[in-house]
Amino acid sequence: MACVIIVGTQWGDEGKGKIVDLLTERADAVVRYQGGNNAGHTVMFGDKTFVTHLVPSGILRKTTSVLGNGVVIDLAELIKEIEELEQMGIDVENHLHISDRAQLVMPWHKTFDRLGEEQKGKNKIGTTGRGIGPAYKDKIGRSGVRVGDLLETEHFRGRLEELVVENNQRLEHLYKSAETPFSAAQIFAEFTTYLKKLKPYICDTPLLVNQLVEQGKNILFEGAQGTFLDVDHGTYPFVTSSNTLAGGACAGAGIGPTRITDVLGIVKAYTTRVGSGPFPTELFDKDGELLQSEGQEFGATTGRPRRCGWFDALLVSQAVRLNGITGMAIMKLDVLDKFETLKIAVGYRLADGELTENLPRSLENVTPVYEEMPGWNCKTAGITDYDQLPPEMLAYLERLSELVGAPVSIISTGPKREESIVLNPDQLWL
Ligand code: IMP
Repeated sequence: MACVIIVGTQWGDEGKGKIVDLLTERADAVVRYQGGNNAGHTVMFGDKTFVTHLVPSGILRKTTSVLGNGVVIDLAELIKEIEELEQMGIDVENHLHISDRAQLVMPWHKTFDRLGEEQKGKNKIGTTGRGIGPAYKDKIGRSGVRVGDLLETEHFRGRLEELVVENNQRLEHLYKSAETPFSAAQIFAEFTTYLKKLKPYICDTPLLVNQLVEQGKNILFEGAQGTFLDVDHGTYPFVTSSNTLAGGACAGAGIGPTRITDVLGIVKAYTTRVGSGPFPTELFDKDGELLQSEGQEFGATTGRPRRCGWFDALLVSQAVRLNGITGMAIMKLDVLDKFETLKIAVGYRLADGELTENLPRSLENVTPVYEEMPGWNCKTAGITDYDQLPPEMLAYLERLSELVGAPVSIISTGPKREESIVLNPDQLWL
């Protein structure tokens, strides 16, 4: 039995989808525990590329796939995704389970995400616009609607009527918007149609997951976003609205911390970020452009170009601590193939001139202090034999591991699952 959490160690988009896909072969279930369709997990499966936003990417391998109670669900988008997967010949019906305690993204959440960003102007968060922040705000404010509410028709109708009044007031008075008010009758009709399609999937997922644990099954917990988008530990307020850390898996899936056996940190060999917020190692020069083009760095959900920069050891060592990471998968190393020299941030010079090697509370106004290493400057994309990796790459990996304090378990040299080198496969948790 193994319960392994897969977590992003930077600002998301580290390549979690590929590693979940790789490990799913040995897993009996894959569980999403936070976030919603703000995530985009890209998986290459044969010649095809799939991007899943809500459904755990384990579905592609016919594995039990769970949307846990910590997830916020846009039902229309979920149905669209299920239909797309079905059209590709994937058997969703027999594998997907949706928590009856998961929160729903309601129509007003998407509207308020957009209007809230407009109101913030230049201070906007740069959200994905999927209503995620407002949905979590209502969850915590106890004004949310849960999947299970849909199962009790009259209760749902009553709750909707109350919430529509409340949210139309917000629309008019808080956002001063002249947009058409929300209609309880219309939303009720829409959501009744969604329920028809989704009812067979709805269940008590904490019970299901704990039963699988009792049966000694292998379970992967698939984190979305990354450590520094965590609402507590990220670059607040430029974060998402959930606990993206490994610790979030317990609350978001309904299992006890004693069940977790390992935490695999997914680490991009450089750094990227989508949306606003501080990014100390961000590059605005030719090196940044090269990372962007070689890495095809465009958001999987919004298509926005990702900001790119050098590897930041302060960030990742903090992620190792916060998540209790026991092994790392280093992703997209081949993107560095054309660089003569590589830089790693090993410290920050603070505004007052002080030098720190620990991540400060604010990443604004810090200047990274770099260590330089020779690049390998040759093609490594697709190499699957450890002995063929250039010595400069091995030295780079060794230095990263030393700086962040965690061992390298997987080396990824391309987007396909085969383009991976698994060190010590026997110890690969599952
Ligand atoms: P939200 O999650 O849509 O509220 O967006 C909040 C911040 O998180 C923005 O900077 C988004 O760009 C970022 N974000 C949300 N989901 C992802 C993701 O899956 N990958 C990378 N960034 C994300």
